[in-house]
Parts: sequence; structure tokens; C-alpha cells
Amino acid sequence: MIQTIRGTRDILPEDMPLWRRVEELAREAFRRYGFREIRTPILEKTELFARGVGEATDIVHKEMYTFSDRGREDREGESLTLRPENTASVMRAYIQHRMYADKSPGELTKLYYIGPMFRRERPQAGRYRQFYQIGVEVMGASDDPAIEAEVIEMLDWYLRELKITDTTLLINSVGEPSMRAEYLELLRAAVKLKLPQLCGDCRERCETNPLRIFDCKNGACQPVIAALPVITDSLDEASREHFEKFKAHLDARGIAYTVNPRLVRGLDYYSRTAFEITGDDGLGAQNTLVGGGRYDGLSETLGGPPVKGFGFAFGLDRMVMLLPEAEAARLRAADAPDVYLVFLGDAARERSFLIARELRAAGISLLLEFEERKLKKAMTQAAKSGARYALIIGEDEVAQDKYGLKNLATGEQESLSLKEIIWLFTTKNT
Ligand code: HAM
Repeated sequence: MIQTIRGTRDILPEDMPLWRRVEELAREAFRRYGFREIRTPILEKTELFARGVGEATDIVHKEMYTFSDRGREDREGESLTLRPENTASVMRAYIQHRMYADKSPGELTKLYYIGPMFRRERPQAGRYRQFYQIGVEVMGASDDPAIEAEVIEMLDWYLRELKITDTTLLINSVGEPSMRAEYLELLRAAVKLKLPQLCGDCRERCETNPLRIFDCKNGACQPVIAALPVITDSLDEASREHFEKFKAHLDARGIAYTVNPRLVRGLDYYSRTAFEITGDDGLGAQNTLVGGGRYDGLSETLGGPPVKGFGFAFGLDRMVMLLPEAEAARLRAADAPDVYLVFLGDAARERSFLIARELRAAGISLLLEFEERKLKKAMTQAAKSGARYALIIGEDEVAQDKYGLKNLATGEQESLSLKEIIWLFTTKNT
């Protein structure tokens, strides 16, 4: 039997109402806050991520699905990659379509996206090789920290509306790229003194990308990591001031946060504000739900004009995992059809087709199975479908043009004309 590839999975119909809720509510949040949707290709030139996300990051270095496209004749094909994230692609689109042109001062471009991303990580609960992200990017000439606070306010509303409450907002400033080189030297020197106490991965990172040492989950490395110099202590004055203003904006909105000076994020494009939201319960080791930050230099890295940017992405897979059980049950129940149609006899079967068409045309969701069943069997089937009502059509009903509508939760049954049935569903919204 052919099965899904490791790290990928089918999202089955039982779970789709949960996925749709997470997506639809996100669209509603984005509508309220003035974001517009963008869809970029899943395949991009490898160079986009190598430059945008950074050669030395784990994502580019180890996790991308990269292949060489078929070349023409004797020429080699281009190197293509299944996108591991979408910020670089959205910035590419922003530059390519000159979205910055014809803007009045202070005008922002606010975009959102929903779609699959690919990273060749070791699969585990909450971590997949094909996963789905919902994200936003705010781009323009302004780096006002109020933009950041408003985006986080939107996330705060969204999580509460989804009834996901056990989360923590972690924030930090990773400063300007210009001060980062100095800090990295300081960090590298401190790490070198402790090299024998660190794991193999950390020893390698010391040379390639010492910031990543803060992501190490190895227990033995933790005491060393806790004592390393933090980026926050090396911040330039402007970044420090920016961070203070950002915190004041969060305070003014009553949004709780924890400053984590070791939060550095796994992508190279960040400058100044970085943040994550973790799920405190239900995600296990992969507890980062949302990740984001400011990426003011990214446009220039990709050959674009100077542009400021701030955004985030969250894993849809993880958001669905965090939906409370009662909420998940409610969403699944609401996904069932309004009516299950039960017919008894040939004449009723023929009439059922016409009735089904009429009710569906009136907006009622109706399940009709073509198999003739005995009444008891049919009623069991109706209950199994999750429908709220069974519509029973036998010979008498056909003759009288009145049908039995049974509420499957209460067991109450009424004899009603089609008009009355339609009225019941469309006006009372039962
Ligand atoms: P990221 O932290 O790499 O950031 O990913 C954001 C979120 O995507 C994570 O917090 C997690 O929920 C989800 N995620 C990442 N990898 C996986 C995986 N293998 N399986 C399941 N879920 C996963 C970014 O991607 C940035 N582009 C975010 C951003 C937007 N920064 C600024 N704008």
C-alpha cells in the first residue's frame, strides 16, 4: 500500500471544521485590522531563501527541499526550493510588484497569507515536514513600535476568540545588525571558554552561527547557556529606546508579556523586536505557537529599496492542537448536516429527490443516501450522520404532501409541509 511521506499527513474530514475555524477567524481578524491576502508560489528560487533567511540558519543549511529543475538541452536546471517560510517570498513579491511605489508618507502595505510550508525536520508531535502557516507582514517606511503592538493586540484578540488561553508572550530586542557583529564576537569568545562542556551541535554553532546556541535543548548545555552574555546587554541606544516604546505600547493595551533576553529566533533577517507566543499546555516539546519580529534590512538583502517590516507566522497545525476539547466538539457537531432524509418505498424515494433539491435550494444542508432501509435502520443511520433532524417520507406523507420532521436530540416529531419546513430552518435558524 502506498502511504503518505514521513512528516506529512492527510487532514481528514473530522478535523476540517477545526482547521476551517482557525482559518476563518484569522481572516476575520485580518479584515478588522486592515490586512489583505496574498498568495505566492510554493516553489521559489533557492537563492531567495539562502539570501533572505540566511545560509547559516538550520532552515537553509539542513532543512530545505531543494532540487535542480530540468535544464534545457545541455544547460543545467535552476536550483528550486519548496518554501520553508513565507516572509522572504512576500518581500520578493513586494519588491517585484513595486508595492512601495505610489504610496503616501506613512502608508503601510499590510498583507496576510495562509498555506503550506516545507522543512525537513525530524518529525514529532506538532512538527511536520509539510505544515501550514498563517502569517502577516506589515511593510513600509515606518518602524513605529505602535505597529508591532497593534499586530500583537490582534493576535491577543484572535487567541481569546479561539478560547486558547494558556499562552505566554515572550519578547526581546535583537538590536541592529551593526551591533550584532560586535555582540557575536563577545558571545563566541565566551562560548570558546566553555567549549568542552557543550554538545557537538553547539560546538559547531560556535563557528557557524553562535546565536543558535540559545536554541539548544540539550540539558547538559543549559547551565553554560544561562551564563552566556545576552544580546540585550549590548543593545545600541536607538534599539533600546525602540524596545522601551514597544513595551509601553503593550502596557497601554494591558497585554502581558515576559522579556526573554535569550530569545533570538532561528532566521537571520530579524532586527530589533523579536517575539514568540508559546502554548503552555498541549504542545509538548514543540511549544512555540507563533514566531515573529522586525526585519528592516530584508528588502535590501533581496535587492529592493530600503523598507521596514514587521510580521509573524503561526503554525495552523499547532493552533488546531490547542483548541479546547469542548470547542472542538462544538465545531465538529456544527459541521453535521441539518437534515437526514429517510424514505420508505419507491414512490417516497422518487419524491425524496425532488424534496431534497428544493430544501437544498433553500439553503438547508441535507444528506440523502440512495439505499432503501427499514425505518429502524434508517433512523440509526440518521443519528450516526450527526444531523439534527430526520425528515421521514413514507407513502402516507407522499399522499398528503406533509412530512415527518423529527428532532433527533429531543425525539419530538411534527408533520409539516415543505413550505413550513423551509420556514422553520430559514427564519428560526434552528
Ligand atoms: P518560524 O518561527 O520559523 O517563523 O515559524 C513560525 C511558526 O510556524 C512556528 O512558531 C510554528 O508554530 C510553525 N512551524 C514552524 N516549523 C514547523 C513545523 N516543522 N511543523 C509545524 N509547525 C511549524 C517564520 O517562519 C517567520 N517567517 C515568521 C515571521 C513572519 N517573521 C516575520 N514575519
